[in-house]
Amino acid sequence: KDFLATKKVLQGKKLIVTAGGTRENIDPVRFIGNRSSGKMGIAIAEAAAQAGAAVKLIIGQVSVDLPQSPAIEVVKITTTEDLFKALQGYFPENDILIMAAAVADYRPVDFTDHKIKKKVDNPNITLELTETVDVLKEIAKTKKKNQLVIGFAAETNDLLTNANRKLASKNADMIIANSVAGSDGAFGNDENQVTVLQKSQPPIKMARQSKSKVATKIIELISSKLKQGD
Ligand code: CTP
Ligand code: CA
Repeated sequence: KDFLATKKVLQGKKLIVTAGGTRENIDPVRFIGNRSSGKMGIAIAEAAAQAGAAVKLIIGQVSVDLPQSPAIEVVKITTTEDLFKALQGYFPENDILIMAAAVADYRPVDFTDHKIKKKVDNPNITLELTETVDVLKEIAKTKKKNQLVIGFAAETNDLLTNANRKLASKNADMIIANSVAGSDGAFGNDENQVTVLQKSQPPIKMARQSKSKVATKIIELISSKLKQGD
C-alpha cells in the first residue's frame, strides 16, 4: 500500500474493475446467483485508487459494504447483460479492465413476469437455460494496443490447465487463477492464494495472503506491464 501510495504507479490511468456476482432473473421473486462476496474486486479497486488511478467499480451482488473513496466511482449492475452494456460504454475510454466479477454462465431462456406457482400434480419442474455473453471475451476483442484486459479464473480442479486455456481463448493480457474449492477457496474469504498467468511468461505463484495484499501485488504487476509497453 505504501509503495503504491508514494509511487502513484497508476497516476493518470483510467481503470475499470468489475466485482461481485451477476444475477439472472427467473421470475419477479427469484434469480440465479453465485457465492461471490465482491471482496477481491473491491480490494483491487482500492489498491488502484491508492496507486493514483481513476477507478470505476462496476459491481453486482456483494455481501460486504461498498467502498466510499472519492477516487472510486461505483456503478451497480444486476444481470450479465447489464454488465456487458456498461462495459461497451465505458471500456473504450479506459486504459485497464480487470474482470473480477463472478459472471453467470447461463440465464433462463424466458423471464416469467408472474411468480411461478408450485405444481400440484408433478414434483419436478424444468428450467431451460441459455448461455450468457462471455463479457471478458467480447470486450477483449475490441481492445486497442495500449489497453490491458485482465481476467480471473475460478477453478475447483486442474487450476493451471484450465486457467491457461482461458488466457488463450479470451485474448486476455493476464489471468489471475484462484481456487474456489472448499472453505479455503476464494469465495467469501478475506485471504486468497492466486497464480498470475501471462503469455510467454512463467506463472507467478503468490503466497496465500489478504485480498488487500494480493490486490496491491496485482496492481504492481499491471503497472510494470504498462511500462514494458505491451
Ligand atoms: N466471464 C465473463 N463473462 C462470462 C463468464 C465469465 O466475462 N459470461 C469472465 C469472468 O469475469 C472471469 C473470466 O471470464 O474474469 C473467467 O471466468 P470463469 O468463470 O473462471 O471461466 P468461464 O470462461 O466462465 O468458464 P467456466 O466457468 O466453465 O470455468
Ligand atoms: Ca464461469
